[in-house]
Amino acid sequence: MNKKPKSAVGIDDIAVAVPKLFISTLGEFAQARGIEPGKLARGIGVEKMAVPDVHEDAATMAASSILELIQKNDISPQEVGRIYIGTESGVDEAKAIGTYVMGMLERIFGPGSFQECSTVEFKSACIAATHALENAAYWLRAEDGDFNATGSGECERVGIVVATDVARYELNSPAEYTQGAGSVALLVKRDPRLLALDPVMGVFTRDENDFFRPIGMKCAVVNGRYSNLCYLAAMEGAFSSYKKKALVRGMIRLAGGECITDHLDQIIFHIPYPRMAEYAAASIFRREWRGLPRWRKIEEEIGPEPGEEDFSGSKEHPSNEADYKRRFSKSAQFLGAYERKVRPSTLVSSVVGNIYTGSIYLGLASLLEQNLLVPGMRIGLGSYGSGCSAAFFSGTVQAGVGSTARGDLLKRLDERVEIGLADYQLLHQGERNESVIPPSGEFALLEIGRDGYRHYDLVG
Ligand code: HMG
Repeated sequence: MNKKPKSAVGIDDIAVAVPKLFISTLGEFAQARGIEPGKLARGIGVEKMAVPDVHEDAATMAASSILELIQKNDISPQEVGRIYIGTESGVDEAKAIGTYVMGMLERIFGPGSFQECSTVEFKSACIAATHALENAAYWLRAEDGDFNATGSGECERVGIVVATDVARYELNSPAEYTQGAGSVALLVKRDPRLLALDPVMGVFTRDENDFFRPIGMKCAVVNGRYSNLCYLAAMEGAFSSYKKKALVRGMIRLAGGECITDHLDQIIFHIPYPRMAEYAAASIFRREWRGLPRWRKIEEEIGPEPGEEDFSGSKEHPSNEADYKRRFSKSAQFLGAYERKVRPSTLVSSVVGNIYTGSIYLGLASLLEQNLLVPGMRIGLGSYGSGCSAAFFSGTVQAGVGSTARGDLLKRLDERVEIGLADYQLLHQGERNESVIPPSGEFALLEIGRDGYRHYDLVG
């Protein structure tokens, strides 16, 4: 029997939902916390953080991003075979958040319209949506086409992957200025218009206590600076695994003097805050460039790398290494590559903050908004989830990218409403009963019943 040729699978379109409220990190907030605003703007890279209102949570944001995706692509609910949701801000310990989301969407599309769609919640800190995407792609690639079809064979089914989270840390902690909230919905299809996923994913996983949120706790427990180290170690591991697989499969062929990053036109790293993507880029570029002819230029600028043999006592090495790391991250070659290939993905995150598992896909939205996705480009994606796990994968921008219906994300971000420190703190602590902006034309959490069931509706 002849096998059908495999079609490309990947991301066809993207929609983003963020709360209407934000707090500026640079004014009253910085003053109240006794922090130099320059540290937050440049040292962290976050100028505004999205703040969910009383009626918003991970489920309402997910429903909003899916609704935008469905409406702008004119999809009928019957076409959607899977809604996979990556979140670490789940609203129930048992019931899938996707069922609440479908309940909200059915207020618009009619009762039962999503009944032939299955939904699963993926939890793996910030890497969850990446594994949801991987699984949605597996589902679409399943060779038994009939299994995925509607039965009548009339319409091809699509998957939706949603990342939705509220990043919340303790008030007055050093993690406080890396909060945020939002949702990103990805339309996952065969023959996608935006990004066809390459068949290679490098992964790295190990048990770590860098960041976690025990059951019942509202804020994450975080060992901040250690979490940066875990992120970098895991990203290096995942990148090495990707590199090995990409070379063995012949997916990337290196000419003399080339390295893998030369074959990636843009690289989107997980963005808990923009500077972290810069640290990740420095660590990957340094590893990749070392030993290549271009390394001579870097040595001319910042001197040779410290080696163990250069030191009499082993204790000296770490500080020399930290110093060299800093010098590399200030080198002209690195800064040039970072500005070109990595920084553009951090645009939206700098005014939204960390949205945990959606942050990397907010990076993709940033590239799309700036018209930086050109057909034929290969985009690298480095996903990280605390606890910890990283995945590095890639995709090729498709010819149809120009035909995706553009949202108005940057305009919507500009139109948000700034709140002051007092409202932000009340919302953070769950101490405000009334919404700052009463919901209008949007999904809202109306009440939590005595039994814990959450009542949502589309509010006119
Ligand atoms: P901190 O104590 O503010 O860090 O904590 P810092 O004092 O090292 O300062 C950061 C940078 O600001 C430094 O830059 C300073 O020099 C600079 P660098 O030296 O590294 O180049 N700086 C200034 N720059 C300009 N003007 C100034 C100035 N002063 C200082 N005046 C930290 C930062 C991120 C650790 C903290 O906010 C935190 O704990 N955040 C939460 C944890 C986090 O986001 N970790 C990231 C990695 S883990 C991850 O990504 C997973 C996660 O998303 C969760 C999940 O997976 O679910 C968090």
